[in-house]
Amino acid sequence: MIIKILVMKMGKLSIKRVALSALLPLLAGALWTGGVAQASGGGTREPVEVEWSFNGPFGHYDKAAVQRGFQVYKQVCSSCHSLKFVAFRHLGEKGGPFHADKCPAGFPDNIDCANPVENPAVKAIAAEYDIVDGPDESGDMFTRPGTPADYFPNPYPNKQMAILANGVVPPDLSLMAKARAGGPDYIYSLLTGFEEAPDHVDIGPGVYYNPYFPGDLSSAIKPEYLDEHGHPKEGIHVPEGGVLKMKPPLVDNIVDYADEEIPETVDQYAKDVGQFLMWVAEPKMESRKQTGLMVLVYLLIFGGIVYASYRQIWSKDEH
Ligand code: HEC
Repeated sequence: MIIKILVMKMGKLSIKRVALSALLPLLAGALWTGGVAQASGGGTREPVEVEWSFNGPFGHYDKAAVQRGFQVYKQVCSSCHSLKFVAFRHLGEKGGPFHADKCPAGFPDNIDCANPVENPAVKAIAAEYDIVDGPDESGDMFTRPGTPADYFPNPYPNKQMAILANGVVPPDLSLMAKARAGGPDYIYSLLTGFEEAPDHVDIGPGVYYNPYFPGDLSSAIKPEYLDEHGHPKEGIHVPEGGVLKMKPPLVDNIVDYADEEIPETVDQYAKDVGQFLMWVAEPKMESRKQTGLMVLVYLLIFGGIVYASYRQIWSKDEH
């Protein structure tokens, strides 16, 4: 019965009208929320899209860039950030920045440099790190130089020390390029994106403004920029991004590159360390892409054969 009445009533309204009356509130809602978002600003700035060598189906790591990125990590980032899933030997594995197919001339025959554990560059890098080991026979812990089998040591002996030094524990960077939306683009943008906080916000001590770092600065607007309801005054926007407890770690000329051709700038360092952290997070990316391509080629050829045989079987010719 109710349905019958409804149908009768509906009949009197034209479809157009019904559609319009349903759409109007939607449209109004869209305009309204858009308006609110605009008035308050905020949000996080989209990461810059870097043209990485590893983008696209034929992408590959730029070995020299990964090596430089490792240098940046070692000389700058490693004083705060761990890399706990990475062992020194990974650096010498196939596809790694210090992999060698064979030893340089003059090496004894019994050394296999293609083996990451015997690779002299990897051994030298590992030996520069102090590794806490033990306990020894008398029950004491001791430090010794690293070997290729060791993992990158944590810069802090425990969480408490990390918090004491930074206010928070600096996150491990092993999977950072995979863990954050935007991946290496985000890392690059974060490292190059530190800015002076706008005048109308008060971010407080010990934190640094970065429009690419997710956050909400709506409560950081200085009182003189708010109206009597606590809303930002006309023309005042909540700045994009947020604040973090990492001081801008890079400055020009902080790392000395062996290759004179490569600029020693924040921009270049950020690209190189982004490339390194991408390799760290996905060392097998190159072989994954290669396999993908092989599968595609195989499918194309297979598809061709299937099509040809279909034509053959269904052709009008008598066999
Ligand atoms: C002096 C210590 C210090 C140094 C040096 C340092 N960082 Fe950090 N970093 C931190 C701290 C602390 C945080 C956590 C900040 C927070 O959450 O407020 C952090 C956070 C990060 C984040 C995570 C941001 C997020 O989205 O959570 C990345 C990525 C990062 N650092 C990369 C680097 C790289 C790359 C370098 C070297 C070029 C570096 N950091 C050098 C202390 C440091």
